[in-house]
Amino acid sequence: MYPEKQSESFVIFNSKEIKRIMKALKLREGIYWVGGIDWDLRNFHGYLTQRGSTYNAYLIIDEKITLIDNVKSYLFEELIARISDIIDPSQIDILIQNHVEMDHSGGLPKTLELLPNATLYTNAAGIKGLKLHYKKDWNFAEIKSGDTLKLGKRSLTFLTTPMVHWPDNMVTYCPEEEILFSNDAFGQHIASSERLARELPIGIVLEEAKKYYANIVLPYSKQVQKVLDAAAPLSIKMICPSHGVIWTEENIPLILKAYKDWAYNVSDGHNGLVIYDTMWKSTQMIAVAIHETFEKLGIRSKLLNLQTNHISDIMTDIIEARFIAVGSPTLNSSILPTVAAFIYYLKGLSPKDRIGLAFGSYGWGGQSIPILQQLLGDPKECGFEMLEPIKVQYIPSAEDLENIKQKLNEELKTKLEEQ
Ligand code: FEO
Repeated sequence: MYPEKQSESFVIFNSKEIKRIMKALKLREGIYWVGGIDWDLRNFHGYLTQRGSTYNAYLIIDEKITLIDNVKSYLFEELIARISDIIDPSQIDILIQNHVEMDHSGGLPKTLELLPNATLYTNAAGIKGLKLHYKKDWNFAEIKSGDTLKLGKRSLTFLTTPMVHWPDNMVTYCPEEEILFSNDAFGQHIASSERLARELPIGIVLEEAKKYYANIVLPYSKQVQKVLDAAAPLSIKMICPSHGVIWTEENIPLILKAYKDWAYNVSDGHNGLVIYDTMWKSTQMIAVAIHETFEKLGIRSKLLNLQTNHISDIMTDIIEARFIAVGSPTLNSSILPTVAAFIYYLKGLSPKDRIGLAFGSYGWGGQSIPILQQLLGDPKECGFEMLEPIKVQYIPSAEDLENIKQKLNEELKTKLEEQ
């Protein structure tokens, strides 16, 4: 596990050097990306961000000069340097805050010190959240879903998207440019010199978008469905999220289709995961038997040892998995801590309509198997439909493994026929 980044990002540079290095990127005439790149980020509250991240902010030069969103506190100087590449930051009239969370608002207090006369537009939940975070009564202007703000040649329309993934979330649409500033939605944790999805291998961008959805957005899939419906009539030529790279015309259908599939839980029903930890490899032997049975029936399966796979990476695979087998030997009348951590993370992210299977080896008490059965199957826990649990005392014999495969094969065949 990597430590959360704590220190100032650019202590090695002075302000003049930051200005020289940090440039804005022109997206359209008068519209610029001016965000911060967090190359070192590896842990986003428990989500392993192997590729780092960005906090995207966007500058619109019109009669009213507008900044959409902000950056983490330690990237404030980078934000200001990029804005200074285009204008004197004190010229900004309007701040739009699509979301309260501190990865997008951490730089606000210092920004507003520079801009005491700027108006900060957000919705009621945003105003409440920002006041609770920063204890400041800034010059707020409350907007409601559907409101439009004229900037000059351009305008901005706001669409609140509560609980995707905080109560205050909203997106901002510029009809004249056909740009959706989507904040967390459609984001990916990727730090790169490239700003556009088309400049990177698209498979990597979509995989990171899926990981983001699985680890941040998944519990709010019902709300995402409503947002997709609300956005459907809009003509969108560019989606500017608050993390990662920007979606342009050629890739917008890909990410919209992916979000629809993830929000509606679409899969072909032939994906399985075998997730486990093991003490003396007995539970691993059962895991392999389950994996082989899945594969024999055409269920594409991954064997995921919790000692070598991060729970946030496993969540990415959960998105398309219908069958989820989880195994633990019994340790101190319970399950292994790695398995407990995974199941509680899984429960919080709340995937729906999965078929679960509890398994494990044991010495004498055997408590791990009923504990797993309860954690996966109880409607107050993960709420999966459960298969018959599998348990073996001490080390499975060849005969035990053959029996496991035969019984599971019959049960799975029935489930596949029901689908
Ligand atoms: Fe990227 Fe919910 O903050």
